[in-house]
Amino acid sequence: MKTAILYYSLTGNTETAAKAMAETTGADLFALETIKPMPKRFFCRIILGGFGARFKKKPAIKPIAFTPANYDRIIIGTPTWAGTIAPAVRTALTKFDFTSRSVALFSTFAGAPSETISAMTELLGTATVIGSTSAKEPSKNPDSLVALKLWAAEIAG
Ligand SMILES: Cc1cc2nc3c(=O)[nH]c(=O)nc-3n(C[C@H](O)[C@H](O)[C@H](O)COP(=O)(O)O)c2cc1C
Repeated sequence: MKTAILYYSLTGNTETAAKAMAETTGADLFALETIKPMPKRFFCRIILGGFGARFKKKPAIKPIAFTPANYDRIIIGTPTWAGTIAPAVRTALTKFDFTSRSVALFSTFAGAPSETISAMTELLGTATVIGSTSAKEPSKNPDSLVALKLWAAEIAG
């Protein structure tokens, strides 16, 4: 079974999880990056990122050699921003064709996962969501990381 992990990460938590999952499962890893970088200052990030997420912005992303049809399972990870999907992931969910693909969703968060997973599910249309999970900042919480690795192993079969 061929698995891909597609993720966006600004401060490393989702990336830590995605990389650990790829190591555990042997999945191919695809990082999403916006063409326009996020500001460096924390306050500016929160305002701009939160606004972008809330207003469902879809920023341009750098090209990646990811083709959903090449994979049996696709794991998609996003940080929770303003209670929902990070904008770069919103772009990816509408840009790539996930029709009839088996996808599994994860989010990382600081306080609460809120509506992140349901918002992703809604955008995926006819894809089959075979699982989902959310974890509190895996870079700082080893238990979260272990749980995500176990979850990914189950998804990847
Ligand atoms: C712009 C922005 C908005 C955020 N909004 C939320 C939120 O609404 N709820 C929450 O629990 N955490 C929120 N966070 C914290 C992140 O979800 C959390 O730190 C996540 O693990 C970051 O993933 P990353 O390190 O891969 O970027 C926010 C962080 C940023 C930068």
